[in-house]
Amino acid sequence: MGMTDPLSLDEWQPDRNLAMELVRATEAAAMRSTPWIGRGDKNAADGAAVDAMRRFLATVNMNGTVVIGEGEKDDAPWLYNGERVGNGLGADCDVAVDPIDGTRLTAEGRPGALSVIAVADRGSMYDPSAVFYMDKLVAGPEGVGVVDIRKPIGENIRALAKVKGVDVSDIRVAVLDRPRHDQLISDIREAGAGTRLIMDGDVAGGVNAARWDSGIDLCVGIGGTPEGIITACAVKALGGVIQGRLWSQDAEERERALAAGHDFDRVLEANDLVSSDNCYFVATGITDADFVSGVERRGPFVRAESIVMRSHSGTIRHIISDMDPNRWD
Ligand code: FBP
Repeated sequence: MGMTDPLSLDEWQPDRNLAMELVRATEAAAMRSTPWIGRGDKNAADGAAVDAMRRFLATVNMNGTVVIGEGEKDDAPWLYNGERVGNGLGADCDVAVDPIDGTRLTAEGRPGALSVIAVADRGSMYDPSAVFYMDKLVAGPEGVGVVDIRKPIGENIRALAKVKGVDVSDIRVAVLDRPRHDQLISDIREAGAGTRLIMDGDVAGGVNAARWDSGIDLCVGIGGTPEGIITACAVKALGGVIQGRLWSQDAEERERALAAGHDFDRVLEANDLVSSDNCYFVATGITDADFVSGVERRGPFVRAESIVMRSHSGTIRHIISDMDPNRWD
C-alpha cells in the first residue's frame, strides 16, 4: 500500500513474507557450519550446512522445487536439483539454495562466506545447467540505463562515476581474484578506479554492488551462473542492474550449449535471470561479509546476522538472532 493509496486500512491485507520463514534455514545452515569455520575441511562445512538448511526448509510454507541446488541427484544426496522442498502447502516456487557461498572461505576462516536462499514463482528462474560460468555486471539503482556489460569497463566506470557525482578514483569495483580476470583488473585500474579483489563469493560482491550503503559500486567478471541467478533475486529487491552473458570454459562446453540453443552473445537482464517480480532473497553471514557479521559464539548463544529481502515491497530487513545451540530447533 503506497502512502497515497486510496485503499482504506480496512481493505488492505499485507501479503505473507516468505523470506521471514526462509531466514531460519540460512541461520540454521550458518549455525551448523560454525564448528567448521577455519578447520580446513570444505566438505564437512558444506555437509553440515546442507543438512541444517534442508531440515528447516521442510517447515516453510511453500511448494518448492530446487532449481539451483547442490547438483544432480546422483552426486548430491540433499538439496539436489529437482528435489521438492517446503511443507507443500503454500505457493508453487522455484528455490535456489547455496548453503555456503564461499566454502573455501569458510574452511580457511576468511571473510565473505554466506548461506543463501532465493525463492521466486515457479518456472521463473533461468535454467543455469547449460553453462557453469557467466560473465556478470552488477550495479546499484544509479547504474540502471547507465552501465552496460557490452561496453568497455572504463566507459562503465566513467559513466557510473558521473551519475553518482563522484570522481572515478572513488569508484570501487569488486572482482573475483582469478587469472582469467588479469586483463579486466588492469583495465579497471587503468581507468582510475580501485579494485576490491574477492577470493570467493560473488553473491556477496553483487549484493554489495547493488546496496546503497556499501563501499562497492560495481561487481564485474566471470563467476558461477547459479550465483548470478541468486544475485538477480537480490537485485530485484534492492533495485539496480544485473546483466549476465554465458561464458564457456572450453570448446566442448561451448558446442554442447550451442547445440542446446544457447547464445553466448545474448545479454541476460534481471528479468531473463528471474522473470518473476515476486522473489525473495535471504542470506546469513557465516564469516564477516560487510552487510552481515559472521556467526559467532556469544556466551551461551550463537549470534547470527541475516539480511532478508522481498522484491514486491523492496523492504530490506537486518535480523540478528541469538540462538541457544542446546535448545535450538
Ligand atoms: P562455492 O563456495 O560454492 O565453491 O562458490 C564460491 C564461488 O566463489 C562463487 O561465489 C563464484 O560464483 C564461483 O565460486 C566462482 O567459481 P571459480 O572458483 O571456479 O572461479
